[in-house]
Amino acid sequence: MGLIIAANWKMHKSASEAETFCRELRRREKELQGVEVLVCPPFTALAAAAEVLAGSSIKLGAQNMFWEDKGAFTGEISPLMLKDFGVSHVIIGHSERRHILGEDDAAIRRKLEAALRHGLTPLLCIGEKEEERDQGETGAVLERQLRAALEGFEPGAFKELVVAYEPVWAIGTGRAASPADADNAAVLVRRLVEQLWGSEAASAVRVQYGGSVNAGNIGGFAALPSIDGALVGGASLEVDSFISLILAAREAAGC
Ligand code: 13P
Repeated sequence: MGLIIAANWKMHKSASEAETFCRELRRREKELQGVEVLVCPPFTALAAAAEVLAGSSIKLGAQNMFWEDKGAFTGEISPLMLKDFGVSHVIIGHSERRHILGEDDAAIRRKLEAALRHGLTPLLCIGEKEEERDQGETGAVLERQLRAALEGFEPGAFKELVVAYEPVWAIGTGRAASPADADNAAVLVRRLVEQLWGSEAASAVRVQYGGSVNAGNIGGFAALPSIDGALVGGASLEVDSFISLILAAREAAGC
């Protein structure tokens, strides 16, 4: 299965900064061959990014969305609005939304239902907090998050599903998880998807690692057969470091 590497810019970059980044990324598109590359700008930079990336192989993702199509939901952005810009992927349940903005499992579930309804590929984020890890609860937390998100969907409901394992303690700290941690999480994801939807779905789901990933450490993750890519924060903000990371991942994965 091919690698999928996504830039999550979080609350960084104006529209013109996004345009400059995407122009340069597109200029170097040939270097990225064989890897599915995705850029997730803030909502306010989607239009600028979409315009530059139109017709390229680089895909556009959103960092979040609301579950309703339209209505009195001040400040929210609907799946239809995202699709209007050519958005194909959406990050759902990022830990910053769960833990800073109070998004709960029920909201995440509704967002997944909306993604499914509108044919958007979800990048579902899961991950344990440091204290949960210290108490040996990592597996239980990941399983709870996954079950709340996925249980009850029909097998084959998602044409594509990406699960990003992002331990909260590794995000933005410079302290990445070990490849063994990521492997354990990926195995857990596939085991659970197999229980829910069977072995075909389990081998089709793609698992990314995220959390302080960079060009220097991506190789250890991408070399694992269980890991299919990365969700990249800080190292995705400069074109050079993002491309270096993609190239290192491709080399380690041998694709
Ligand atoms: P960093 O790569 O900055 O640790 O962020 C990871 C992340 O949260 C990506 O979604």
